[in-house]
Amino acid sequence: MAASDPSFSTSIGSSVQEAASWLLQDDVVGIPTETVYGLAGNALSEVAVAKIFTVKNRPTFNPLIAHIGRLEDVHKYAQTVPALAEKLIQTFWPGPLTLLLKKTALVPDLVTAGSDYVALRMPDHALTLELLKTLPFPLAAPSANPFMYVSPTEAEHVYKQLKGKLPYILNGGACTIGVESTIVGFDTEGKPVLYRAGGITVEQLEEVVGPVKIPGSKNEAPLAAPGQLKKHYATGKPMQKEQTAPIEWLSEELIKGTWFMGFDKPHDLIPSTQQILLAPDSSLSTAAASLFSTMRKLDEIPEVERIIVGTIPTTGLGRAINDRLRRALHL
Ligand code: TXA
Ligand code: MG
Repeated sequence: MAASDPSFSTSIGSSVQEAASWLLQDDVVGIPTETVYGLAGNALSEVAVAKIFTVKNRPTFNPLIAHIGRLEDVHKYAQTVPALAEKLIQTFWPGPLTLLLKKTALVPDLVTAGSDYVALRMPDHALTLELLKTLPFPLAAPSANPFMYVSPTEAEHVYKQLKGKLPYILNGGACTIGVESTIVGFDTEGKPVLYRAGGITVEQLEEVVGPVKIPGSKNEAPLAAPGQLKKHYATGKPMQKEQTAPIEWLSEELIKGTWFMGFDKPHDLIPSTQQILLAPDSSLSTAAASLFSTMRKLDEIPEVERIIVGTIPTTGLGRAINDRLRRALHL
């Protein structure tokens, strides 16, 4: 879509056929997945992929994940599949796991931002799997939020932010996982390396493939994973962790505008009407599923001026939650 492009009247519905008909014409469509909503286009069409970057207002040096609906398609888009990748595919697809594999010539450079590796995943959402099975191409899809904002977990979130820029949003309900897929690559010996924490935990991965390298931990140099910007997912309002929030935020003068987003326990000093707990049941999967929608809600409530975030466990899904929060904090 060039700058002069027509704007669309955006509709929301659950017709796989309608979504497919737009995609077959190189248009982009909002699609549900189990992690977050995606902004999808034909991954094999440079025209469609360029539209994704325009609608999202995203720099083209950020590569996109290609979503497939048939297991055998891995071999169309990946030259080789390391043995451990095969094991992960068998165990976790369809599901919130993306694999970085050496690409074939079918995958345009625009999708991979010039890299020889393509990010592939099979999402676990009935409507989107049906859609992918009806299409003769994979769908490139970043999260369907404007660049740098919180990822959408409901069709309505996509509509609010991107209406007029795309013709159709396929409504598949609220995302059940709520954080993006885990991204795993492989080193020269075929050993797994974590590129992004996400919906499949490191513990789950290690049960299947043994130790996973986590760059940035121990002595590893952090990976130059493209698009993993330090600041991302940000709310419009300042957000700080409990431990580092300025003490004045709790002063008599400011406390009226200070809200708390906690894990399972309320903050002692903030009025209860100014608190939202992500997981009253203390479950990390509940917290992941409500994280982005709670951040949006806090951004939308006019009385909220600043947000203090409670401590969230760092194990299991907590790794992905804390990663997203770190990028959302206003330093
Ligand atoms: O759960 C998800 O993964 C969601 C849904 C829609 O599937 N998608 C998603 O896409 O999170 P996005 O664009 O927001 O994040 C994709 C990230 C990039 O920022 C980059 O870090 C990594 O995936 N990535 C994609 N292709 C890559 C490549 N060829 N090499 C290295 N990293 C890649
Ligand atoms: Mg994203």
